[in-house]
Amino acid sequence: MTTDTLNDKTLMRECLRRRKNLMKTMGNNTIAILPAAPVRVRSRDTEYRYRQDSDFYYLSGFNEPESIIVLLPGRKSGEYIVFCRERDEEKETWHGRRLGVEKAPDVLQADDAFPIGDIDEILPGLLEGREKIYYSLGKDADFDQQLMEWLNRVRATTRVASQVPSSFVSLDYHLHEMRVHKSRSELGLMRKAAKISAEGHLAAMRACQPGVYEYQLEAELISTYKSHGATHSFLPIVGGGVNACILHYTENTDVLEDGSMVLIDSGAEFAGYAGDITRTFPVNGRFTEPQKDIYSLVLDAELAAIDEVKPGNSWNAPHTAAVNVLTKGLISLGMLKGTFAREIKEQGYRKFFMHRTSHWLGLDVHDVGEYKVDDDWRVLEPGMVLTIEPGLYINAGRGVPRRYGGIGVRIEDDVLVTKTGHEVLTSQVAKSISEIENIMA
Ligand code: GLY
Ligand code: MN
Ligand code: MN
Repeated sequence: MTTDTLNDKTLMRECLRRRKNLMKTMGNNTIAILPAAPVRVRSRDTEYRYRQDSDFYYLSGFNEPESIIVLLPGRKSGEYIVFCRERDEEKETWHGRRLGVEKAPDVLQADDAFPIGDIDEILPGLLEGREKIYYSLGKDADFDQQLMEWLNRVRATTRVASQVPSSFVSLDYHLHEMRVHKSRSELGLMRKAAKISAEGHLAAMRACQPGVYEYQLEAELISTYKSHGATHSFLPIVGGGVNACILHYTENTDVLEDGSMVLIDSGAEFAGYAGDITRTFPVNGRFTEPQKDIYSLVLDAELAAIDEVKPGNSWNAPHTAAVNVLTKGLISLGMLKGTFAREIKEQGYRKFFMHRTSHWLGLDVHDVGEYKVDDDWRVLEPGMVLTIEPGLYINAGRGVPRRYGGIGVRIEDDVLVTKTGHEVLTSQVAKSISEIENIMA
């Protein structure tokens, strides 16, 4: 996760606090089991860069694969157990350093640590006497099966039925609810991820001119992220011209044409936390009149949506604001033919704006957490971070004025709910027409 997390005392203190909070909600006589993310093969014997599972990392701050953390609330002989790889001189020479079992308790503030190779003997014993198993089923099929085998072993060897766990409970609800509310130190990291993301976008804007390839702008983004000790939080989208109308375009292979626009959706991941910014701008640095029409409309929608980010407002308020502005604008540009009321009721805008305005942001780009409580949209609270990202994607075709065909625009910022309203974490990147034209001049 591109910082030395193990030497980060603040992080380790926070992880301890998070584990204690989670254990309080679990109650005694329960057990939580979280495996680290597996190493993933890219091709033959090469691997993707390792990325820890976000839940595992949130609770442990530990970045190594082949590890498992276990929480046992109320257990006298230790509530937090870590299984990890043993030190091994030869393997470390080939593949890199390991924390090792001896240092794990001290560094990770665990009550005990064991070699991962011993888990088969130890884990069934830890299950015994616990009523509920907190676990995220379905994330890792191999581990799901392994866990069932351990449970079956407890069933087969324990005579007292009450000693066998009787139910699985999803770990997600409480854990993800904790992750929705960012702490002060998490917000520090998110501000940094946002700032690095913004710098990447500014570098790409400055490097853009007709004849440059989409992948060359991707290179500007990645180079900026890397130079700050960060990496990309998802594959960058660099879509020139009509490619901007493909929501998840990641080929980034085309040349950028004079007179067209380019949409860049990309963010940095710093210390595990994601930034997520979209900017759309003219390849040659000057907006044409039709481009201005569409861009101004999306920008108005984005600003109206950001205005709705404040404590007490519904999660859906920013989306409603964006949809209202876009619908009015699409009617006045001749792209929707009905009345405002009818186009809202029939969601006419969805032909050009087919995704929602926001998602949670944090350790994952599309971060965890509920959007509704029972059947109602939840209420925004200080410490929550969300994106605001309306767009219009206008494929040429029937009923679309010729001058707008092929234009795709999205504008996306990362926004923190504060006590009094909001803070736009990504405000450093040019966004108004004049700011963009100035930077690219
Ligand atoms: N890049 C994915 C998103 O903006 O949601
Ligand atoms: Mn994005
Ligand atoms: Mn997003």
